[in-house]
Amino acid sequence: MNVGVVGASGYSGETLVKLLLGHPLVTLGAVTSRQQVGKPLAQVIPALRGADRGLRFVDSNAAALAASDIELFFLALPHGAAATFAKPFIAAGKKVIDLSADFRIADLATYTRYYGDHQAPELLAQARYVLPELAPADWKRFPIVAAPGCYPTSILVPLAPLLRDGVVTREHIVANSFSGVSGAGRKVEGNYLFVERAESATAYGLLKHRHLAEIEEQLALHSGAPTVIQFNPHLAPMRRGIATTITVPAAPGANVDNLYATWHNAYKGRPFIQLLPSGETPDTAFVTGTNRVDLSAVHDVRTGNFVITSALDNLLKGAGGQAVQIMNLWSGFPETTGLV
Ligand SMILES: NC(=O)c1ccc[n+]([C@@H]2O[C@H](COP(=O)([O-])OP(=O)(O)OC[C@H]3O[C@@H](n4cnc5c(N)ncnc54)[C@H](OP(=O)(O)O)[C@@H]3O)[C@@H](O)[C@H]2O)c1
Repeated sequence: MNVGVVGASGYSGETLVKLLLGHPLVTLGAVTSRQQVGKPLAQVIPALRGADRGLRFVDSNAAALAASDIELFFLALPHGAAATFAKPFIAAGKKVIDLSADFRIADLATYTRYYGDHQAPELLAQARYVLPELAPADWKRFPIVAAPGCYPTSILVPLAPLLRDGVVTREHIVANSFSGVSGAGRKVEGNYLFVERAESATAYGLLKHRHLAEIEEQLALHSGAPTVIQFNPHLAPMRRGIATTITVPAAPGANVDNLYATWHNAYKGRPFIQLLPSGETPDTAFVTGTNRVDLSAVHDVRTGNFVITSALDNLLKGAGGQAVQIMNLWSGFPETTGLV
């Protein structure tokens, strides 16, 4: 299969390019960027010296790409821009895996509240949100797949099955997440400079982080009722990785064995979900470079809360790795092809 990455010069795009060049069942036919047009891939991504197969960046020209023989496009673009590329791609019969928020939120009013006007609302009905371990089975017949956000993956994987099985309550859910700075993309902004971020950690986006839209919509789908969550994101002094700690009241009578039984049942045979023993905490150091989510939980009998911890690599299971996992499942390839 011939695939292309639009926005290949960004952090998620670069991650995708590396994975796809090493993937035995696809050919990377196009890597695009507006600013790097004409440059050899390895000049922009020096980690690929000697391994870029002679590829050069082409312009992010939607019409020209739509007319190419690429069958599936990954959109590693900012929200808003992604939808404008999806339009001609879908009209030309291409498949799209979008890493932005443009097709993650089914409810248009919610999207507009968090992200502003949608650039292709008419395509929402043709899109499905696919967190592979949680998505309802019918998603493969839709031409647009929205790959989940990095924070949402770290929260939905542990929480969704617990809400669905009634092991936890729907009230008083608090998620504290710590992200590496690559989560903000390859942009030059004062707050993301080395001097600001090294040796420092801070909360940001309290009460209004955009990922809330997707987290709460998905939790409501899995729990069967509106679900509100206190989401506290933090920037941590690391390049990549997300560590999330969720506190949620246990449902009456539920204990940690019930919680693990639900997880085992939900994730049995899923290669990218690792359940750690209760009391052992996931660590970004051990998931960075992999497509895994590590999970663990303890029950605090003093407060009645479960304290649930997860860790993942924001650029792999939180972005490019999950997108390749989706492509594998969509194309009938083994789920783990090209991934660790
Ligand atoms: N970073 C993460 O951890 C992460 C995780 C999950 C999802 N995501 C999502 O993935 C998408 C990309 O994120 P990123 O962090 O990789 O961003 P990034 O590092 O800032 O890269 C953005 C890419 O898009 C291109 N681009 C920017 N504006 C454009 C426009 N108006 N039209 C066409 N191309 C444009 C840029 O190249 P040129 O300017 O040269 O065209 C670049 O290749 C975002 O929607 C983000 O929310 C990111």
